[in-house]
Order: sequence, then C-alpha cells, then structure tokens
Amino acid sequence: MPARGIPTGTQIVPSLLAADFVRLGREIRAVEDAGAEILHLDVMDGHFVPNITFGPPLVRSVRGATRLFLDTHLMIRDPLALMEPFARAGADLLTLHVEALGGGAASGPSAEGLEVFRRARELASDELGCLLGLSFRPVTDPLPWLRELGASCDLALIMTVEPGFGGQAFRAELLPRIAEVRRLIDERGWTCRVEVDGGVNADTAGSCARAGADLLVAGTAVFDRPDRTAAMRELETAAGVAPRPGR
Ligand code: DX5
Ligand code: ZN
Repeated sequence: MPARGIPTGTQIVPSLLAADFVRLGREIRAVEDAGAEILHLDVMDGHFVPNITFGPPLVRSVRGATRLFLDTHLMIRDPLALMEPFARAGADLLTLHVEALGGGAASGPSAEGLEVFRRARELASDELGCLLGLSFRPVTDPLPWLRELGASCDLALIMTVEPGFGGQAFRAELLPRIAEVRRLIDERGWTCRVEVDGGVNADTAGSCARAGADLLVAGTAVFDRPDRTAAMRELETAAGVAPRPGR
C-alpha cells in the first residue's frame, strides 16, 4: 500500500504525551474537533531517553480510534528493529533519531549511520508503506546529515528541547537552525518537511513558523488547556495559519 502523504500547509500537531492516558479516545476526539490533521506520538524506551511512554499496542489502539495522520517520533535506542511493529500498528510516519543510527552523530553521518538509514528507507518504502523522518537532538547539527540524506527524507524534526519530557522551555538559540534547514531544503528543491518539537506555545510558535517550520508539535500547550479548540486556534493564530473553513 502506498504511504499516505503528510497533510499539507503549516500544521499545529498535538502531541499525545501531554494527554490524559485514561481518556485517550476523548482526548483524540477533542483535537480532531479542533481541526488537527496530524497527531504526534512520542515513543520513549528508557534507554535513548530517560523516560518510558508506550509501544505498538497503544499505537494500534490509537489507529483504531482515529483517521488522523500518525506522526511517530521514535526516541528509542534501536529504531530499525522496531520500525516494523510500529508501522504494522498503523503509524503513517516513523521518525528516527540520527543519534540512534550508530557510529556517532555529532560530526555528521558515519558509514554505519548511512547504512542503517539506507536499510530504514528501503524498509519504509518497499515493505511497510510508511514515510520516514530524521530527528536531531539540540546537540546535533542537522546540516551534515541532511546534505547527504535530505533528498530521501520525508521529514526533518528539529528538537528545540532535550528529548524525553514534555513541558520544557523552548530553546530560542535553536531558531537559526530551523531557518538553515529550511534554506537547504528549498535550495535543493526537496519535498522534505520541517517539524519543530519542544516548548512550542503561543509565545514561540510565531518565530518557529517564520523560521520556516511546517509542522509545530505542541503537547502541553494543547492538552494542559481545558479548551483544546481555543488552544489550537491560539497556536494557529500565533503561527500565522490562515483560518480554514469548518474550524
Ligand atoms: C519531548 C517530545 C515532545 C513533547 C513536547 O521529548 O518529543 O513531542 O511532547 O511537549 P511540549 O509541547 O510540552 O514541549
Ligand atoms: Zn516528540
């Protein structure tokens, strides 16, 4: 089955990490009703990051409850080994951290990292029918990676906090990075989308969108608010998203 494309335009992407897990069905409906088209799923394994969230069974339940595009952020030590169960559970996009590909990451891709990516790309396209993204911790410069691999990436996820926990403060010193990644992708004419994750709220969403982010992940800024529709509208206004009919 061909992969489903990432919804177009600038998007506010609620992260389920900040939702009430006892009421997941209702939480998902609330953001659907608020007009979200994408749901961000934060998978943490207690090794790559010092926190644990959920695995394929929960993704499968979420898939059964919604048609939203499932943007799955794999903060796990061995992403290649777990791509298949997450894709089979219904993830539309799997985003792997370059720091988990092996061979070190800070100075750019090693031969090992490139080989693991090549296998991940083949698996995603040829067997799993899902999209593939790459994510970068604040300490990792995405440019050397994207110069090599940007043409074959569906998404570049720029972390603006250290991955592992919701509710952290946005690191504004990383804004130029978003703009650099945007410029590289536009110059080369690649289709890769740019996502920002961590500390996005009504105060920071505008600068992320202006720097060139397409997808703005928001966990606590959506789910810590009793009125999720109001929260989504505020974030969209801050990000300069034109009001859409029916919202
Ligand atoms: C953090 C996760 C984020 C998290 C963002 O490691 O990758 O997706 O849910 O949460 P907020 O929006 O609260 O910073
Ligand atoms: Zn995330």
